[in-house]
Amino acid sequence: MPTVTIDPTGEVIYLDPEETVLSGLYKAGYAYTIGCRRGGCAICKVDCRAGSFTYNRPIADTVLSDEERTDGTCLSCRAVPESDITIRMRGENLRLVNAFLRQINEKARQRAEALARAQQGAVIISEE
Ligand code: FES
Repeated sequence: MPTVTIDPTGEVIYLDPEETVLSGLYKAGYAYTIGCRRGGCAICKVDCRAGSFTYNRPIADTVLSDEERTDGTCLSCRAVPESDITIRMRGENLRLVNAFLRQINEKARQRAEALARAQQGAVIISEE
């Protein structure tokens, strides 16, 4: 279950496998300026400060330049984390617009921690 950490505030959002950054943030009750949600307008760019991601569809050269493909620019509506990532918003703050949905993220955090504990226990059992 990959996570997205928001720099500099430190919120941690839990994504489902193959889920885009934008989808995960909105599912957790957060919002920021977006446009088409389909990789065509370039409005949803954020900066990836750590971790790696890939795109779930080809992105047009008019949306992402060659430089942006290597400098950490992340088109959040199409970016799918390959690891835990850290992002920084561009020119605005991430806004919590639905506190109720934040509970879904909290439950995802609890599931991820329980899974990590179970996997740790499985490792200890297998070493005996
Ligand atoms: S919202 Fe248009 S490219 Fe992401």
